Order: sequence, then structure tokens, then C-alpha cells
Amino acid sequence: MKSFSFALIGITASLSLLTSTQAVTLSNGTASNSTVGGRCSAIQKTDESSYYSVVGVQGTGVHPRQELRELEQDAETWNLFLQAFARFQAMDQSDKASYFQVAAIHGAPFVQWDGVAGEGLMGYCPHGSSVFLPWHRPYLALFEQVLQRKAMEIAIEYPAGYSQEKALSVASHVRLPYWDWALNPGNSTEGVMPASLRSQSATVTYPNGTSGEIPNPLYAYSFHPLKYEDFSALAEYEFKDWNTTIRLPENGTSPTATSRNDVANERATTAQPDNRDTLYKLLTTYQSFNEWSSAAGGSDIGSVEVLHNSFHNMFGMGNMGIVEASAYDPVFWFHHCQMDRLMAIYQYRYPDTWVQAASQYKATYYYEVNSIQGANSPLEPFHMNANGDIWTSNLIRNWTSFGYTYPELADNPSNTTLTSTINKLYKPQTQGLDSNNSTDGSSGAATNSSAKATDWNAQVKMPADIQVSYSVRCFLGEPSSDPTQWATDPNYIGQVATASSPRMSSNITFTSTVSLTEKLYKKFQAGELTSLTDEAVSAFLEKNFHWRIQALDYTEIPRSSPPKGLNVTVFNIPISIPKNDTDVPEWTGSKAFKPEIHGNPPKSATGAPLAGNTDGWNATSGTWHWSNADEAAVSSAVNQIAETTTSAAPHSSVTAGPGEAVEVTTLPNGQVVTHVVTVVVTVTAGAEPAETGSASLKEAETATPVTTAVGSVTPGPGEAVEVVTLDSGEEIARIVTVVEEVTVFVPAPTA
Ligand SMILES: *[C@@H]1O[C@H](CO)[C@@H](O)[C@H](O)[C@H]1NC(C)=O
Ligand SMILES: *[C@@H]1O[C@H](CO)[C@@H](O)[C@H](O)[C@H]1NC(C)=O
Ligand SMILES: *[C@@H]1O[C@H](CO)[C@@H](O)[C@H](O)[C@H]1NC(C)=O
Ligand SMILES: *[C@@H]1O[C@H](CO)[C@@H](O)[C@H](O)[C@H]1NC(C)=O
Ligand SMILES: *[C@@H]1O[C@H](CO)[C@@H](O)[C@H](O)[C@H]1NC(C)=O
Ligand SMILES: *[C@@H]1O[C@H](CO)[C@@H](O)[C@H](O)[C@H]1NC(C)=O
Ligand SMILES: *[C@@H]1O[C@H](CO)[C@@H](O)[C@H](O)[C@H]1NC(C)=O
Ligand SMILES: *[C@@H]1O[C@H](CO)[C@@H](O)[C@H](O)[C@H]1NC(C)=O
Ligand SMILES: *[C@@H]1O[C@H](CO)[C@@H](O)[C@H](O)[C@H]1NC(C)=O
Ligand SMILES: *[C@@H]1O[C@H](CO)[C@@H](O)[C@H](O)[C@H]1NC(C)=O
Ligand SMILES: *[C@@H]1O[C@H](CO)[C@@H](O)[C@H](O)[C@H]1NC(C)=O
Ligand SMILES: *[C@@H]1O[C@H](CO)[C@@H](O)[C@H](O)[C@H]1NC(C)=O
Repeated sequence: MKSFSFALIGITASLSLLTSTQAVTLSNGTASNSTVGGRCSAIQKTDESSYYSVVGVQGTGVHPRQELRELEQDAETWNLFLQAFARFQAMDQSDKASYFQVAAIHGAPFVQWDGVAGEGLMGYCPHGSSVFLPWHRPYLALFEQVLQRKAMEIAIEYPAGYSQEKALSVASHVRLPYWDWALNPGNSTEGVMPASLRSQSATVTYPNGTSGEIPNPLYAYSFHPLKYEDFSALAEYEFKDWNTTIRLPENGTSPTATSRNDVANERATTAQPDNRDTLYKLLTTYQSFNEWSSAAGGSDIGSVEVLHNSFHNMFGMGNMGIVEASAYDPVFWFHHCQMDRLMAIYQYRYPDTWVQAASQYKATYYYEVNSIQGANSPLEPFHMNANGDIWTSNLIRNWTSFGYTYPELADNPSNTTLTSTINKLYKPQTQGLDSNNSTDGSSGAATNSSAKATDWNAQVKMPADIQVSYSVRCFLGEPSSDPTQWATDPNYIGQVATASSPRMSSNITFTSTVSLTEKLYKKFQAGELTSLTDEAVSAFLEKNFHWRIQALDYTEIPRSSPPKGLNVTVFNIPISIPKNDTDVPEWTGSKAFKPEIHGNPPKSATGAPLAGNTDGWNATSGTWHWSNADEAAVSSAVNQIAETTTSAAPHSSVTAGPGEAVEVTTLPNGQVVTHVVTVVVTVTAGAEPAETGSASLKEAETATPVTTAVGSVTPGPGEAVEVVTLDSGEEIARIVTVVEEVTVFVPAPTA
């Protein structure tokens, strides 16, 4: 066994961070100083064997990821899945493969993972990007890989023999399930959000055969511990005070907020028909991959990313609602698994279109704003192997290589079979109206293979980034005067939403649609709309169609001073509706816009903050104003970077030592940050030791600090001294520069 002793001069926290994210290994000083990261020019790796191989589940075959409710029917797999999920969440947060650190890749805290350096106040995940969906594929594979390993660990605890073999066989097909929020709910009492996500406890049967109640791991993640500074950069939100993840809090700025899963379920259930209709259009209408997948892709039907935003928005000021905190909520994983499934179905249907190189409108921790990224761009920080090769969109194109598929694709269906499946799952009840008062023109064209009718929609154009997530909500009938009720209002149809924050800025304006056809037919059936002719429907919509703009915290943004570029216009378009489920409908003409349908602006709306809030809409700047995101956010943001990248060096006065340089970076929020980067590796004296040792976080935390001076090694600002005793008995001291993870070795005086 190797033994370690540590002389920590500098800050322990930063050294712990270093040793937890990267095993510290000795090098002979010839380590390459080539760029690994995309943003910093001086990132160096001294140990190539320490990369985390993101490979998905290997060695157990290709198994379908199941819908949550379907998986729950399979009692044995569900039991193992729940326990594995709980065990994943229980992992020490200092472990690179812990639930905490895997979730942190997506957003806060803004630190590096697996040695991939970055910059700025964003996670690695790209939004408004051509690689938005591809990036999440290896991300989910990583999550699934750890989850399935936990299932195997549990299976091994079953009594040897038949029950263990059985458990191992069950564990071998544990995969991440998805939440299909577009499905018509099989059980209308349950609603659209599965009960398994909403109950606080769950019953499991342990490997020893006894049963017990555990906190439901699908309900929340509990931080252990919650570190205030991990979330303090998100100054305008409360995550720094919440020791568990929270869904749709009533008051998002309260430190004692609680989850309201039942209201979230009501929201999901109210919006389900519209979300299903949008999804159906996206799956059945050809658009190129960039148009289809990304908010910045230029679609005029809508994109999967914009549809995806709605399910973040649904959870309000809770974790899921905020990009930088969302991946901690278990529901994130089931939602994104659904996203990956939609991408796989789309890929299967349209195999010839794929990621096109495009400008990145928003910076990520790794990508620079305005950089061009395409199918061969690195999906950082996901390494394919221990050598540090990185996944790209081209390399993740075939999902089965990660060991999973989806139920709809498991049997390699023909295109016709897949089309029938899509129709079975998502076909709207009413796809078009015709002036003969029928829904699909069948009364006029019963013998043809398809019928002509009219599809009615609202087209929504909206700027993506106004410092807050917000949505355009559509209604057929007057909405409640209380904005907190809008998302569950009986007259509510659906929304188009953004997912943004004060740290995300871009000039993206995207387009999406809200379907009106089915709701109009219901009004016709109810006798409120008396005829389905163009004129009658237009007149009805002039009177009854309403839309409102609402920020994530419920505040109404007044239509009289809307975000710049926002435009909502009703249109209709001829649609050809097939009689046979082996086919899909098609828009056959061009959009006829109805500018006379104004959407009934409210008599008065001021954008005034809700009671108790000091945040609100600033009509002059056309952006949201966060009262506590000013000074506090800036200073904590700077501190965050100082702590995680430049160690204890005081920020205002960084000085470069020998072999160092000062790098000045402008963050997406305009802040200028200065820090020391180490540009070369220097061997001060001595030869490469014969043996190497490595330190883990645990050891670092429990080691007894050596307080004596260590030879001539003097740490500079942002450095620490580490003393390692090798197996040979030889003791070496080394300076650890936290910022760039470069190790410099000198022999220690023999004790
Ligand atoms: C240092 O290590 C590299 C990589 O392991 C090796 O190629 C090189 O020969 C070594 N140099 C010396 C001086 O030992
Ligand atoms: C390291 O960087 C220096 C300065 O940029 C360069 O001259 C040298 O060739 C680099 N070394 C390696 C191994 O890439
Ligand atoms: C429907 O959902 C409710 C509420 O979750 C549950 O009590 C009931 O057992 C479910 N019914 C069926 C048939 O699954
Ligand atoms: C079975 O395992 C559970 C979980 O480890 C434990 O709480 C329980 O006490 C065990 N029961 C018996 C009878 O050993
Ligand atoms: C979380 O915080 C609440 C108070 O907000 C407290 O009651 C609870 O015990 C805390 N839980 C943990 C696990 O620290
Ligand atoms: C499947 O059918 C659709 C039309 O419904 C067509 O656009 C698409 O190209 C077909 N895909 C394949 C792989 O044949
Ligand atoms: C995807 O990979 C699997 C093997 O994992 C292979 O059987 C299949 O043909 C590949 N599909 C495509 C479209 O390349
Ligand atoms: C449609 O229904 C309305 C009300 O029932 C009726 O007045 C109208 O004549 C019908 N139009 C057609 C074309 O049947
Ligand atoms: C958006 O900004 C980019 C550069 O940041 C610029 O190239 C582009 O023209 C802008 N687009 C619009 C519509 O303003
Ligand atoms: C809103 O969009 C419609 C349809 O594209 C267009 O006719 C109209 O001019 C736009 N209005 C504004 C103010 O841009
Ligand atoms: C639907 O189309 C398929 C393939 O074109 C055909 O085999 C089937 O008989 C049709 N079904 C009906 C009900 O027309
Ligand atoms: C929300 O909570 C904050 C902090 O406790 C409080 O100041 C504010 O008044 C609350 N807002 C509402 C609408 O209750």
C-alpha cells in the first residue's frame, strides 16, 4: 500500500477539488502542454490514464429503455432500478461518478469535470445549439452506466445461487427509463406525471428478502452536504439554501420553499394535448436536423428544444426550471431520456440528415460564443476512453453502441411500421377542420385515400434570452385574472417557452406553433362555435383567442411592452389527412395569416412584481431585472472562479510567477476575470521517482497535515505543497498548481 502525508499550504478545498477530479500522478516533466480544452490555451494533463470512459452499458447486450409507467409494471426490474437510483444518489459527492458531480456537469457549480477545463458561468451543456441533442446522448450514457453498475452491485448482494443469478439477469437489463409526457394518460386519475415521480417514499424489497420504505429517489435529490458556494453564483435563485431539489415552489425566492408535485402534474396534464400535437408535427414533418433539434435552427414549425423548454418551465422556480440547477432533479433524466428517444426515432425516420456546423449563439463552459461547432466537434467533457479521446456527434450517431435502444425501434421496424406506431401513440384526435362541419374532410371525400381540411395554429416568434425564462401562453376563452392559475386554467391551450437565465444571452429569436384545431373542434361540439368555415372560425378566434406573456415566477409581462421581436399570429393552412395509419398528414399549401386576430390583450397589465418580489420586467431595457443578481451575483461569480480555478490568490492582484502567465477573460455576463495560468511544466531539480503514488479526496481530507517546511519548495499564490511517501520509502514533495492541474516535482529532504 502506498502511504500519503500532506503538507497543505494554501486552501484545502481547492486541493481536494483537484484530487477528486483527477488522480494526481507523477510525471517526468515532459508532459505535453498541448491544448485539451477549447477555451484555455494552457491546459495540461499529466496523466492520460485517469480519464473517465463514458461507454454506456457494455457487455450485457442492447436493451430497450422503457417508459416509466411501463417499467413499473415489471416489479423485479423496478425494485432493482429504485434501489440502484437511491444508491447512485447516495454516492459521496467528491466522487467523479457521483450523482452530484454528474449533475454538476450540466450547470452549477461551474467547475471542470474529468480534467476538461472551461471558463465562465455556465455548465458544459449547449443550448440553442446544433449539438444540443447530441451532447445529451453521452451525458445520459454516463448516467445510465453508473446507474446500471449500482444495480449490478445490489444484485451481487442477493444470496448466492438462484436468487443471485436471477437478480444479475434482471440487473443486466436495467436502463434509464423515459417519461413520455405526450402520451394520453392511461389513467386519468393519475394524470400525465407518473405517481412514481410524485410520492415521497417508495417500497423496495432488499436483497435479503425483507421489504422497507425508502425516501423515493425519483422524488428529489438530497444534497449531502449542500454547499452554499456551489450555488451562490446563481445569486437570484434560492438553490444555495435548499438542501433538496424542489419542484414548482409556490414562492421561488423563499429559503423554506417546498415542492408542489400535484400542481406540476396538473400543469402537465392540462398541457398534454397541445404537447402531443406539437410532438406529432415534429415527428411527421420533415425538417433538417438543425431546424428540427435546436431553438437556433431556424424552424418555422417548432423544434424539439423549444418543446423541451416547456417541461423545464413547468417546474417554475424549482430546480428543473433553471438550466444551471436542473440536472439535480431526478425528473431531468427521465425528461432528457425522452428527448434522446425522440432523436433516435427521428434519426430512424430521417437517416440522411444530421448535425450541420453552426454558430454557437451562447457560450458554454467549454464552447466560446460565436464559435462554429459541427458533427465532429468535441462533446466535452465526455471521454470515450482512458486515453482521453472525446465523443463527437458523428461518433454517438448510433445509439445502440451505448447498449440501449427504445421500444419503438427494438425490432428494427420498417418505416411503415414505425409510422403506424407514431400514429398510434400521438395522432391528434382532430387534425383538420372542414367547412362541411366535419373534422377531417371525410364527409366530403370519404372514398379518397386522404381528405383535405384546414389546420389552425398560432405562430409564436419570441426572443430566447431576456435574462429570465418566460412563456407565451395561449387560451381559447378569457384567462383567469390571477396569473398563478394560467397554466392550469380551463381555457388554457398551451405555451411556447424559453429556458434562459441572467447568465445566458443571445440574439436568438425562434419560431414555434401552438395547435388550435382540436380545441376548436371541441368548441364546435359544445355548440360555442357554430360553423367550421374559415369566416366563422376567424370570427370566433377574434373574440375568444387570448395570449399572455408570463415570466417563470408567474409575473405577467405586459403585452404593451413585450420583449423585442415577440410576435404571435394565428394562421391556417390546408392539410391533407390520410385515411390509413401507415401514412401521415401533410400541409399542402401556404400559411394564411390572420392579422385581425389580435389575441385580446388584457385591459391592464403593468409587469409589476408580485407581492413581496422586488424583481420584475423592465419595459425600458426590454429585459427582466433581478434585484439580487447585480452586485451580489457579480462578486460571488468572481469568487466562484477564484476558488475553483485560481485557488486562494486574491483576485484583484494576481501576479504571474516564473512559468506563469496572466489570462484575462471576459465572461458572458461582461465581467472581466483575471487569473494565473501555468504555461510550462518545469522540473526544478531531481529525477523522476521510481514509483508513483496517487491521492484521492478522502485521503486528502483525512490526512494529517505536515506542518514543517519542506526543503526549498515554497508555494506561490494559488499553489499548495503536497508531500507523498512512496512505497520505496522515498519522500517527494511537489507543488500543486490548482488552476491548471500541473504538477512540478522536486525531491524532498530525506527525513
Ligand atoms: C517521459 O515520459 C514520456 C511518456 O511516458 C516518455 O515518452 C519519455 O521517454 C519520458 N522521458 C524521460 C526523460 O524519461
Ligand atoms: C509547449 O508550449 C511551448 C510554448 O508554447 C512550445 O514551444 C512547446 O513546443 C510546447 N510543447 C509541447 C510538447 O507541445
Ligand atoms: C389510477 O391512478 C390513481 C392515482 O394515482 C390510482 O390510485 C389508481 O390505482 C390508478 N388506477 C389504475 C387502474 O391503475
Ligand atoms: C435486510 O436489509 C436491509 C437493508 O440493508 C436492512 O435494513 C434489514 O435490517 C435487513 N433485514 C434483515 C432481516 O437482515
Ligand atoms: C433541510 O432543511 C430543512 C429546513 O429547511 C430541515 O428541516 C431539514 O432537516 C434539512 N434536511 C437535511 C437532510 O439537512
Ligand atoms: C419514412 O417515411 C417518411 C414519409 O412518411 C419519409 O419522409 C421518410 O423519408 C421515410 N424514411 C425512410 C427511412 O424510408
Ligand atoms: C449500430 O450499431 C449496431 C451494433 O451495435 C449495428 O448492429 C447497427 O447496424 C448499427 N446501425 C447503424 C445504422 O449503423
Ligand atoms: C355547419 O353547422 C352549422 C350549425 O349546425 C350550420 O348552421 C351550417 O349550415 C353547417 N354548415 C354546413 C356546410 O353544413
Ligand atoms: C446575432 O449576433 C451575431 C453575433 O453575435 C451576429 O453575427 C448576428 O448577425 C446577429 N443576428 C441578429 C439577427 O441580430
Ligand atoms: C408578425 O408576424 C406576421 C406573420 O409572419 C407578420 O405578417 C407581421 O408583420 C409580424 N408583425 C410584426 C410586428 O413583426
Ligand atoms: C393501409 O395501408 C397498408 C399499406 O399501404 C395496407 O396494407 C392496408 O390494407 C391499408 N389499411 C387500410 C385500412 O386501408
Ligand atoms: C417569498 O419569500 C420571500 C423570502 O421569504 C419573501 O420575502 C416574499 O415576501 C415571499 N413572496 C411571496 C409572494 O409570498
